[in-house]
Amino acid sequence: MQPTRITLKDIARETGVDVSTVSRSLSGSYGIHTETRERVLAIAAQLNYRSNRVARGPAVKTHSIALIVNDIRNPFFADVARGAEDAAFAANSDLVLCNSDLNAEKQMHYIRSLIDKRVDGILMNSVGTLDRAQQEFLSLSGVPVVLLNRAKSQSNFSSVIPDNTTGGFLAGAYLVELGHRHIVHLSGPQDYPNLRERARGFLKATAGHSAVMPSFVHGNQTFAGGYEMMRATLQRDVSITAVFAGNDIIAFGAVRAIIEAGMRVPEDVSIIGFDNVDMASVIHPPLTTIHQPKYEIGCNAVEMLLAAAEHKGPPLAEHRVLPVELIERSSCAPPRTSAV
Ligand code: RIB
Repeated sequence: MQPTRITLKDIARETGVDVSTVSRSLSGSYGIHTETRERVLAIAAQLNYRSNRVARGPAVKTHSIALIVNDIRNPFFADVARGAEDAAFAANSDLVLCNSDLNAEKQMHYIRSLIDKRVDGILMNSVGTLDRAQQEFLSLSGVPVVLLNRAKSQSNFSSVIPDNTTGGFLAGAYLVELGHRHIVHLSGPQDYPNLRERARGFLKATAGHSAVMPSFVHGNQTFAGGYEMMRATLQRDVSITAVFAGNDIIAFGAVRAIIEAGMRVPEDVSIIGFDNVDMASVIHPPLTTIHQPKYEIGCNAVEMLLAAAEHKGPPLAEHRVLPVELIERSSCAPPRTSAV
């Protein structure tokens, strides 16, 4: 026997509001009281409601997967996108690229429009900028979602991420082993779980070495952000001999600030990055960094999406953590004796 389809009317009856309020609550529209929206979402989840737009299916099935990243200009995302596109192409699917600029409104605009276009799934860097109702809306849409960067606390959605904690640990342990004591970690916003895990690993590597003094600076995880954080750090603290950058483009910005301050890498300041983007091996000196399997993250994510799209029954969240590796180049050296 076919299960009865839950409609907006059923949710309206159970919640005690009208159908248009239900519809606007589920679509994440503005102007709905938070309590009402939460009640509607809770009842919709209880009744196992699945958006009609997705359940109905398109008249002519087109195969497409969407990838929403912060900003494709970070070369990390270019590699992820390439992996995702190759896997999508092999599965006869097109890849649609959207930049969210980490702006919740823009992200929701794309999400609504992609659901309307009936994409087979959405790969997203993170849902961290969305509020609870917006996340619920996405999770009730029936479109499979895989997160590429932020996993913990977002377990409704599947994820494929690098082993961030181990990466942070490897970076910290490497600098400590070289003899550095004054190490600064330049990172992005504090509330990004992937960056927090890197910081946690770094801190673990420095713990137990009483002479090591780690410090933390947060800013934008961009070239400009790295430049600004390093410039401010050097103005404040001349004892710094090593930097762990939260990603490679932060490291590139930091190198520029170090050079502008009349210092050399690695003679005066050592620096290690995270990501291992292609440019890391090209800059001077070539950047020592933590490699994360960017291309493979893209491929894995598409594979998981396609499996989820085929899956019948209640959606299952799957989490994959891929290994990282230290790539030793020339941007780190032991500190000069006077600096130890
Ligand atoms: O949010 C972007 C950053 O997180 C990238 O540079 C990469 O490190 C990713 O994990």
